[in-house]
This record gives sequence, C-alpha cells and structure tokens, in this order.
Amino acid sequence: MVSYKRLDPENVLFSKETVGDPTEERPPVPRKPWCSSVTTTTALLVLGSVLLLLCAGWLLATMFWLHHHPHFGGGKQQQASHRPPPPATYSGRRRNEQMGPSASAPDPVACGIIPQPRRFDCYPERGAVVTRGMCEARGCCFIPASSSSSSPSSGSRRSGIPWCFYPTGFGSYSLVWANDTALGKEGRLVRDKKSYYPGDVLALHLETRHETDMRLRVRITDPSNSRYEVPIAVPEATRKANHPAYSVELCKDPFGLVVKRLSTGMVLLNTTVAPLFYADQFLQFSSSLPGPFLYGLGEHRAAFLHDVHWTTLTMWARDVPPVENTNLYGAHPFYLALEEPGGEAHGFFLLNSNAMDVVLQPAPAVTWRTIGGILDFYVFLGPDPTSVISQYLEVVGTNTMTSRVLHFYPEASLVEVESASFYGVKVEPRQVLVDQSRDAAFAYNADEVG
Ligand SMILES: *[C@@H]1O[C@H](CO)[C@@H](O)[C@H](O)[C@H]1NC(C)=O
Ligand SMILES: *[C@@H]1O[C@H](CO)[C@@H](O)[C@H](O)[C@H]1NC(C)=O
Repeated sequence: MVSYKRLDPENVLFSKETVGDPTEERPPVPRKPWCSSVTTTTALLVLGSVLLLLCAGWLLATMFWLHHHPHFGGGKQQQASHRPPPPATYSGRRRNEQMGPSASAPDPVACGIIPQPRRFDCYPERGAVVTRGMCEARGCCFIPASSSSSSPSSGSRRSGIPWCFYPTGFGSYSLVWANDTALGKEGRLVRDKKSYYPGDVLALHLETRHETDMRLRVRITDPSNSRYEVPIAVPEATRKANHPAYSVELCKDPFGLVVKRLSTGMVLLNTTVAPLFYADQFLQFSSSLPGPFLYGLGEHRAAFLHDVHWTTLTMWARDVPPVENTNLYGAHPFYLALEEPGGEAHGFFLLNSNAMDVVLQPAPAVTWRTIGGILDFYVFLGPDPTSVISQYLEVVGTNTMTSRVLHFYPEASLVEVESASFYGVKVEPRQVLVDQSRDAAFAYNADEVG
C-alpha cells in the first residue's frame, strides 16, 4: 500500500518493487540498518542502484519467460482461444470457425422455416452481443431478424425477435419411465448430453398431482440432491381428484407436458415447444399459450393486459416506487390467461422465489427462466377469472393475507411478511407466516411487520 500523501523518492521506488513477480528471487533490502549506518544520500544512491539492477533483472527474466512460455511467444495459435470471439461477420465463410467441440451448426434451411413468433431465445444472457460463432457453438440457429437495424444487440433487443434460437429437436430431457401414483404420475427425466450451462442435473424426478378437479400440480425435482423450495405451507392432497377438468399427457422424447381443458379440448400448456433446462443456476422451460390475453406476472407497473410481443418481465423484488418496465416491490410468478374462443380462464403459478425472467412472445408462448430452486407449478382451471383467483389463493394463502401482501424475496430466498400499509390498507400480518419464516431460518423486514 502506497500512501499518496508522503511522496518521497524512497516510497515511490519501493512501491514499484511490489509490482514485480512475487515468485522471483530478490535479495531482501534491509532498509533500516542501512539508513542507520551511512549517510542518507549514500544510502539513497546505493538503494537506487540496487533497485535499478533489480528492475533490469526482472525485465530480462520476464522477457525470457514470455519468449519461451507456450501461451505467449511460443504458441501464437493458442492465444486466440483466450480471447473473446471477434465481432460477427455474416458471410457464410466464417460459419464453422468458432464452433464448440460438441455442437454442430443446425441446418440453415430447417432454421429458416421456424416462424419468427416461435423462435425461442437460445442466448438470453443480457448484454451479450451474440455472434454467429457464439450462437452456433450452442448448436442454435442464427438468423438476424430482418426487420432490425444493423446492430446485432440493439436491433434484436428492440424488435425482441431472437437472432439466436433453438432449432427443432434441440437436446433436452427424455422421459425414460413413468408410473401411476396415488395422486397422478411419476417418472424419470434423463438428459444424455450436458447442456452449455454448468451443473446440469442429468436425471430428474417428475411428479404430477391431480390435487383437485380444478387444480393440477407438477413438480420436477432433483432426486439425488435436495434443492431450495419456497417454505410456505401449501395444501397437501391425499387422494387423486375424481373428475378433473383437465387431462395431462407426457411426451417422451423430447420430454414435454401437455395439459388440456377436457370440456373444450383447449391446450392450456404444452412444454414441448422448447427445450427444458435444469442446471444448478439455470432452470428454464417454455409453453404455448392458448391466446394472447394474459394478466398478472406482478409486480409491474403496466397495463393489466400484457403485450405478448416480446415482453420480458423480470422478477427480483426490490423496494422502489412503481416505475414502468422494471422489477418492483413484489414478485408474483402467477398469470391468469383467457382462452380463445370460449373465454374460459385458467391460471398458472410457478412456486419459485429465485430471481427470474418471464418472456412473452407472440406464438403466443411463455418462457420461465429462473436461477435456482426447483420447478414446482400449478395450473388452475377456473373456469372464470374469479374462480382462478380463489384457486390460486387456496395455494398461497387462505387467510386475510392475500397474495398482495405475500412477497417472495429472492435475495435471501425468503418470503417477506409485509403489512399492507404500502397499499394504503392496514392489514396485520398473520403470526403463522412469521412462524414459518422463523422455522425456515430466513429473515423478513421487521420494520414493515406490524
Ligand atoms: C416404475 O415402473 C418401472 C418399469 O416400468 C419399474 O422398473 C419401477 O420400479 C417402477 N417404479 C415405481 C416406483 O413403482
Ligand atoms: C405441442 O408442441 C409441439 C411442438 O411445437 C407440437 O408438435 C405438438 O403438436 C403440440 N401438442 C399439442 C397437443 O398441441
């Protein structure tokens, strides 16, 4: 550490010394004894020469090392692999240059026939300027959206159409077996090839529970390691619903789940539309939507009806006043959707309190992307909006604590108990939730409770 106040020559020289290679041999510079035995001028002169010699030696040694080290002077080809990929050029000539070892570029003709509304983003990392090389290294299709400007990042973000998207048949999980259970079905999902995210969970446990005639629950968990689950009490069904209003079909390879409303045959959920990811810090699945009329996915300041034209809603609760297009005070991974043409309503709730993005696209389809926890979701069959909300509240809280005052806080994966005074209504938080918080050893905003 150099003190910038005392800038005498001695300090400047010594500070330079510390920049050198620490592993290099260097005679110790006994500062105090020297100064005490000779005059200061001589000491400084000698010291200066010693340092000069040291610097020269260090420089020579470094040059020698650089010249002979395989990563630098000796191996110019390897240097490229440590650098970020060069900016994209869209000529076909460069196509295969930066491919990863395991991925092969998908057939461009097959890529081209995927309609734009059904392109699911293969490179969702924000701020990444996706080049053809980066995209194809993931085995994804790269087609710059025609309507966009020439800049890859800003253009794709503005129109929302992903330039890098999954081809059909992209690697995902397959269902290797499924058996009936007392509540529904269970099965095993297996991924043979690792994805490009670290910490893939290669085998998953799938469970469907026909909890009531109007409520379906699906859990996808890691059978060998327990993962974080939101510690709220949810209803535990003990027997299978007698006359469910829905049907559940499991697609084997690639794995997918199709939920239909039996009375109309309407497909409420079809997760086959895009690959499933279940890595330690990246969980993602997509589903088609029965129509573009979608509400919920709070907390956001926007129109109640969401625009499904490439809207990304981020859920990461933070204490800010309502501002448009940002994540706000609470996170409610729940939507209510109206079905066309009948006008029935259903709900979907992902019980996960980690930071997440929800992407809406005009297929219409939805993508859920979260950085932790498990996939545990509910489908509420309504069939009218009021019934959907009551069915949702049966799961998240049936007391005076409505969903408005129950917030999932991702920072510490906690459920915050908050008084509703923020919304101008004073509601005393129920002790039961505070107790759950304590049992789960997570914090809540004490200043806002009571
Ligand atoms: C499920 O079925 C498979 C065969 O289809 C069987 O090997 C397995 O033991 C069954 N599992 C359970 C839990 O019943
Ligand atoms: C679900 O989606 C897949 C992929 O888009 C499609 O092939 C399949 O027909 C869909 N299933 C239903 C029941 O709509």
